[in-house]
Order: sequence, then structure tokens, then C-alpha cells
Amino acid sequence: MDLLRALIMCGIVGYVGHRPASDLLLDGLSRLEYRGYDSAGIAVVEDREIAVRKRRGRVAGLIELIESHPVEGSIGIGHTRWATHGDPSDVNSHPHLDESGRVVLVHNGVIENHDRLKARLSETGCGFRSSTDTEVVAQLIGWHLEQLIESGHAADDPETCWSALRATLDELEGTYGLGVLFRDCPGHLWAARCGSPLVIGVGDQEYFLASDTSPLIGYTRDVVYLDDHDTARLGRDGLEVRHRDAGTRDVAVQTIQDEAVDVELGEFPHYMLKEIYEQPDSIRSAMRGRMDGDDATAVFGGLNADAGELRRIDRIVLTACGTSWHAGLVGEYLIEEFARIPTEVEYASELRYRNAPLTDTTMVFAITQSGETADTLAAVRECRRKGHKTLAICNTVGSTIAREADGGIYLHAGPEIGVASTKAFTSQVTVLALLALYLGRMRHMSFRAGEAFLESLEAMPELVARTLECHDTVREVARRFADCGNFLYLGRQYNFPVALEGALKLKEISYIHAEGYPAAEMKHGPIALVDERTPSVFVTPRGGVYEKVVSNLEEIKARGGPVIAIAGPDDERIAGLVDEVIPVPDVPEFLQPLVTSIPLQLLAYEVALLRGCDVDRPRNLAKSVTVE
Ligand code: AGP
Ligand code: GLU
Repeated sequence: MDLLRALIMCGIVGYVGHRPASDLLLDGLSRLEYRGYDSAGIAVVEDREIAVRKRRGRVAGLIELIESHPVEGSIGIGHTRWATHGDPSDVNSHPHLDESGRVVLVHNGVIENHDRLKARLSETGCGFRSSTDTEVVAQLIGWHLEQLIESGHAADDPETCWSALRATLDELEGTYGLGVLFRDCPGHLWAARCGSPLVIGVGDQEYFLASDTSPLIGYTRDVVYLDDHDTARLGRDGLEVRHRDAGTRDVAVQTIQDEAVDVELGEFPHYMLKEIYEQPDSIRSAMRGRMDGDDATAVFGGLNADAGELRRIDRIVLTACGTSWHAGLVGEYLIEEFARIPTEVEYASELRYRNAPLTDTTMVFAITQSGETADTLAAVRECRRKGHKTLAICNTVGSTIAREADGGIYLHAGPEIGVASTKAFTSQVTVLALLALYLGRMRHMSFRAGEAFLESLEAMPELVARTLECHDTVREVARRFADCGNFLYLGRQYNFPVALEGALKLKEISYIHAEGYPAAEMKHGPIALVDERTPSVFVTPRGGVYEKVVSNLEEIKARGGPVIAIAGPDDERIAGLVDEVIPVPDVPEFLQPLVTSIPLQLLAYEVALLRGCDVDRPRNLAKSVTVE
């Protein structure tokens, strides 16, 4: 069994305390909605009655439902779904009840043996209502509970509930984060984790359960992270955590840091736009405390690797998915140029199964915003299983990858809510630049070169702020091309990964087919796609390959394709050649991705708006969904 075969990011919340649960659950679900938005639902238990409200669609719809059909009680669970089994209908929405109405639960993950379990339960006469894998878990707990009660156990004894839950979990194959309520044992909420993240917020005689810390903000900063195979009972009388093999365990309460706090939209209409505009600050945060002017190098607190070890490295593997993989590609250029260490960038989904030859002197870095991406986590686990030091470049403090890696570097970008990653990308590039400097200064890079590197980097937040001034121009460009069905994105060297990232942004949020290529590769095939309805976005700031890219650009123009250029300021030559120019400030080549990616983020955003797409919650996606 592969526990990570499918880790799905839905949102789970739970509450036990003295306040009205439904308000807290709805607030929490709104903050977790970016993780999945096929449906939303809550269940509250009061006076030995379970009330369920659930509905297909957004949390806003659930809020309306609860306004007209309120639920009372101060213990409850809630869920936003990213459907894996069964369509996103009302009946398939969570929470799910067992047939007897004694058990209700929410689930994040996939139960791989649901077919077999369902067949077995059906033989005992159990009637299923939904087509989810999740309902099997509710029915199975109900079945075990029934057996226990029949053999004399009291339904209102928490030990009976523990036993029914444990017996069920022992039968499950797959992944789960669960929040479970038992009708006859009110006053308690159970949680279980295997492969899907869960965190418990510790308040004053109240407890919160959540998939990540965002719903806890404003309520408590004290948290307990559950590990795989933990089950927990959250009660008004306290918290108890039991591990499958080790029994009751001590709970370590940790305090979440300030940076997890800023999840409000403020004056912005969308999280994506807010996060694009946060980039001068998020880049600054990625650099803060890491620039060592005295030694002309970078410093990192959490690498957990000594200088000797780092000097011995002769190969680096960067592994990631999606946008983080694109940042990894920029990292490859940076590390090879400045540290001269051979670097490979691997899709985590490939690395995990590839049995790649990793020597003692290979260092693996996993790059991930969420720290929860299943493929990346599986790659980290596989590398660590083989005894390799595996470090993380990660944004989410306390996430599974951050906790499991041997050490690493936090981005400190603050929470990224927009499904399309923006500020995480530029922070990852910033951290990778610092890493290249650090490793470079241990090898061939001179003090003077290190100083110049730091100076260039230090100027970036201001230059990124200036880059954002292109927004009005981008809006005009978007108007002109928003109805095109295909886009090409082209760049070379440091701007090749930027082209890939620009194309991904457009695909994700505006549903337009887009492809990114190294500009010179065009003539080996993709140029056949060029026509007057297929714009090519050229990333062509001044630098070593400028002339070459201009030639590639002319090749497209000669074939009648419209060209949008991301170019240096006052570049008259480019302006004379292309249909639209979006100017960006001149910066050293190795830092160009930090500015050239900005207009591409804005272009995707503006095009998506014009096409009426839901920018923060694009169809079929969820933040960091990873399914094999
Ligand atoms: C980016 O816009 C995407 N939503 C996606 O490609 C994302 O970068 C990828 O899933 C990796 O996520 P992570 O950085 O959280 O691991
Ligand atoms: N597999 C379950 C379902 O499809 C849970 C999905 C989720 O984690 O949102 O309902």
C-alpha cells in the first residue's frame, strides 16, 4: 500500500467548546475554501441529535442554507470538498452519516479499498446513499459500533468510540484526515490522520480542528500537529492523542508564527492580485536576515548541514511540481552559474518512482509552497528512506514536508491563498539565488563578486515594485488578445522557465491553451502553430541572448503571428518590431525572472477577468491538489 497514492487537499474544520459551532465552522470553511470548492457542509451534535447541512458549490451557498435552516450546538465538524469519487452533488457532499445515524464524519483523502469494504457492508444489509469512498468509512465505524454495543459496551463511553474508530482505521487502505462525531457520546470530537494533514488548535476550554492553521487565526496560536497514525479525542475536558503503535502520547503544543496571520483580502478583489502586489514585500522577507555583507555571502538558520558537508556536495537535485518546479529550473541556472555544482531539476512525481542514482555527495532540495504536495512529499520520503539528506525550500511553516525534511529554508512569503501561485514563485527564486551565492562563496566566487551579487539582490524589492507599474499596459494588452484560443510563451536562459510559468498561469486561470518554450526551439516544430490568432509572448529583456531572441521574434513576425514583448525600458528596437510592448526595469540577467514573471502573472489575471473566469478558484483545480 502506498499511503501517498493520492493526497487531496480539501478543507476540514472542527470545533468543541462553548461557542456556537456553526459560526466558527463557517468562518473556518471560508478560510479553507481555496483547498477545494466542489461542495461545503457541516454537522453539529446537540442533545444526542446530529444536524447536517450540506450543499454542492461554494461556502457562500452553505451560509445561505444555514441562515434559513440554522443549527444549534457547540460541537461540530465541517468540510469543503475536492471530489475524487462521485460527482460534486449535494448527496456526495460531506459530512456523511452512517445508516443508523449514530456516526457522522468528514474526510480528506482517498479510501483505496472502498469497493471491497462497500461490497462487504452491503451484504450485511447496509444501504449506501452516496457514491463517495468516504461514506464507507462512516458506515464501517457504524458497523463496528453496533458490534461493540451488542457485546455490551456502552454507546456513551468514549472508549467504545475509540474502539469503533480504531477497528475501522485498521481496515482502511489509502489516505485520510478524518473528523468524526458520535451521536451518543456528545462532548467529544475525534480526529484521525494518515497521509492528510490535520492540526488541532488549543484554546481556553475549547479545541479546534483544521487541515491547516488558517482557520485558527484569531482564535488561538497554540497548536498540536497530528502525525500519521495518530487519533485524537478533543473534548471540553481536554485533549488526548493516541498513536496506532505507541498508545497515548504526550502532546507538544507549538505556537504559530505571526506570518501565518495575514489572510484577509483587504482592498483587493482577489487573492491572486493581492499576492502579486505583495511581491516587493515577500521578496524582502525571503532575504531578511540572510544577507551577510561582512562575508559577502548568505546565511541560513535551518539548513542543518555543516560547512564541510556543504563543501563536499558535487551534485544537487531540485525536486518539485508545477510552479515550484519552474522555480527549480531557475535555480538550476543560478546554482550552476554561481556555484558551479551540477544541478538537476526533477518532477517529484517522476523522482519518487525513478530510483535515481543519488550518491553520498548529492544534496536533494524539495521546493514547495504548501509543504503538502503528495508527489513532493513522496519524493522527500523516498530520498530520506535511502539515507539522503533532504532539505526543503518551503513556505508553509509546520507543513508535513517542512517537518519531515532534514532541514531547509522557509520562504516567509505569508500564506498564499490564490490557487495560481505567484509570490511563492518569486520568493523561491530569491531563496535559490541566495543559496547559489552561499554555495558559490564556498567555492569559486570572489568576495567582490559576492558583494556585487548581494547589492543586486538588495535592489530587487524596489525594482519589483516599479515593475508593477506595468499593470495598466498589461490591462490594455489583455483587452486586445483575451479572445484568442492559443498563446505561445517564449524566452531563453533565465527567461525560459519564466516562459513556462507564464503559460501555466494563463492555462490555469483563463483556460486558454498556452505553451512555453525556449525561444529557439520554436523552429523545431511549434512554429507551425503560428497564425494571426496565436499571440507569442516573448520574454526578451536586454542581456546576453537578447540578439538571439530578437531573431526568434522576427521569425514569428515573418509568419504573421502577433507578438507581445516583455522588454527592457525604452527598447525602441523591440517596439518597432512587435505589436505590444510591456516594459520592465533593467536588472542583472540572473535576477530577471523576478521582474519578467510579474507582467505574465498580471496578463493571466487580466485575461481571466475579461473571460469571466473565477481567478482565485479556477475550475478543476485546488491549491496544491495532487492526485496520481
Ligand atoms: C501553480 O500555480 C499551481 N497551482 C501548481 O502548479 C503548484 O505550484 C504545484 O501544485 C506545487 O505546489 P506546491 O508548491 O505547494 O508543492
Ligand atoms: N475522496 C473523498 C470524496 O471524493 C474526499 C475528497 C476530499 O478530500 O475532498 O468525497
